[in-house]
Amino acid sequence: MNESIFILKGNIVYSKNQTELAICKQGYLVSKNGKTEGVYQTLPFRLGGNPIHDYGDCLIIPGLVDLHVHAPQYSFRGLGMDLELLEWLEVNTFPEEAKFESLDYAERAYRIFADNLRKSATTRACIFGTVHRPATLLLMDLMEKTGLDTFVGKVNMDRNAPEYLREETEESAEETLEWIKDVLHRKYQNTRPILTPRFTPSCTDELMEELKKLQIRFSLPVQSHLSENQGEIQWVSELCPWAEFYGEAYDRFGLFGADCPTIMAHCVYSGSREIARMKENGVFIAHCPESNMNVSSGIAPVRRFLQEGVRVGIGSDVAGGSTENLFRAMAHAVQASKLRWRIQDQSLQPLSAEEVFYLATKGGGAFFGKVGSFEKGYDFDAVVLDDSRLAHPQPLDIRSRLERMIYLGDEREVRAKYVKGQSIRLS
Ligand code: GUN
Ligand code: FE
Repeated sequence: MNESIFILKGNIVYSKNQTELAICKQGYLVSKNGKTEGVYQTLPFRLGGNPIHDYGDCLIIPGLVDLHVHAPQYSFRGLGMDLELLEWLEVNTFPEEAKFESLDYAERAYRIFADNLRKSATTRACIFGTVHRPATLLLMDLMEKTGLDTFVGKVNMDRNAPEYLREETEESAEETLEWIKDVLHRKYQNTRPILTPRFTPSCTDELMEELKKLQIRFSLPVQSHLSENQGEIQWVSELCPWAEFYGEAYDRFGLFGADCPTIMAHCVYSGSREIARMKENGVFIAHCPESNMNVSSGIAPVRRFLQEGVRVGIGSDVAGGSTENLFRAMAHAVQASKLRWRIQDQSLQPLSAEEVFYLATKGGGAFFGKVGSFEKGYDFDAVVLDDSRLAHPQPLDIRSRLERMIYLGDEREVRAKYVKGQSIRLS
């Protein structure tokens, strides 16, 4: 087999561990057959002769991982933030998602989403579509063309949704099966299906059982929402009186980690037993701090998740969150943790820039495998950042430049981007 080796030169930054950065100033980052071969201060002799892309004084970081985003909600990002979750769903979300029955509308809306995600610092994402099979396939076609590596889900809802969006139980299961078959026929390289029961209030027990059958038959992962809002939790306790905590309403059906890779968004109000079960089952939490502020949900105890060894990543949760820019999400995670510490619980220290960078790279990246780091053997997902727009009167060290990216950076700084060793078009 022909070896494909190339080298990026610049200021390389990635997470050494949860709390420390590994920094290699003016170093060499080597990609071999889509994987990271190594980071070197001096290029080893044996690697001489391979192409080198010299990015001068730019920063080079692992691609960012968005563990939770709603593609159809991109069209109302930054709008309608004056309601709490359950009303926000009824008033803003469901009417917008209904529009995706039209493929024409879906094409226009999803193109904007796919283009903007392609140009951002994000290389991986776990994406909700709508209940509509054709529009979800269209979204997957568009995501595949971006070159980003994503999971995309056709949403399931067979109760507590307006009639124009609600599926019958059998129809929901059958459409999901047809959607999976369609996806497998398309033989995407970078786009995979993920089962997406919207949340317990939207899905009957019967539908959850049907989804578990599909999960086993096709070995699919799962994404959903958990313990985001007090009203939602109360509602789930009425719908599933047998559940000792919300997470059991998924776990009972085998849709909560263990043999089924799972992402649960939010977990703002997860209690001890729910956290312990997530740890035991290896469930990933998608922390979505901006969304939690915008729809007045609260602030998730991320420090506690980290202390207890639960897997955590960051989600933009557009349109609960207003932007796909994960630098903003990292800054929001730090800021929210400080308010939580100051106002709510002084036993949980605020998060540092290093910690949120870890969450947005290696933390969430683990859902995709060896992703989110430049350690040897990790998938070669890299983002080159030219931060010269963020002018400063003095030279800054690399750590400070990364911290400023977290607070001030966006897609304008993205000069190049690679996913599994492939260059992504940014124009
Ligand atoms: N819970 C159920 N659906 C949604 C959604 O679309 N966004 C958020 N933030 N929470 C949800
Ligand atoms: Fe969400």
